[in-house]
Amino acid sequence: MNFSQLINQRESCRNFSGKAVSKADLEKIIAQARLAPSAMNSQPWFFYVVVDNEKRQEVAKSVQKFNEKAGAFIVIIEEKPSIPVKVINNFKVQDYTKVDIGIVASYICLAATELGLGTCMLGLFHEEPIKKALNIPKEKRIRLLISVGYSVDKEPRPKTRKKDTEIMKII
Ligand SMILES: Cc1cc2nc3c(=O)[nH]c(=O)nc-3n(C[C@H](O)[C@H](O)[C@H](O)COP(=O)(O)O)c2cc1C
Repeated sequence: MNFSQLINQRESCRNFSGKAVSKADLEKIIAQARLAPSAMNSQPWFFYVVVDNEKRQEVAKSVQKFNEKAGAFIVIIEEKPSIPVKVINNFKVQDYTKVDIGIVASYICLAATELGLGTCMLGLFHEEPIKKALNIPKEKRIRLLISVGYSVDKEPRPKTRKKDTEIMKII
């Protein structure tokens, strides 16, 4: 699959089949996501990869119903970025943590797509019950979840997007 095919194939899956996702595939996805760029190479993330049946069902209770048939969840924890003192002294540094999480989340979804898996990024979730179910320390912040599984849909939907002219200006 070339890049153009990959980005067209990727879509938010809301129709999972219930088929299990192998640990080997999930490890491969994370191995590729690790290569994502991040501001000052901070890599401000930690992933809880949830495959265990009971734990998966617990997580599914705290997100939208369509995720019940996802084979796995990747829970992305936002870690503190490490910024060198020299950089802090020389620049007014923005907080790029959320940007970094967004980039790594895209890598996860694209890596999964290449393996024939469907994904859905989930910003709508109940944080506390998920932390409790997975023993995630209280002080940690879950920034995003990604459900992963096999899609029932054979072909990707047409994409609904703004026109090029609405989002860019070549000057
Ligand atoms: C940060 C983020 C959070 C999202 N949260 C949800 C969510 O909670 N539930 C959901 O069904 N889709 C969620 N989505 C998926 C978007 O709705 C979807 O990406 C968008 O409509 C474009 O559709 P596509 O991904 O199929 O191309 C989220 C996407 C992003 C990037």
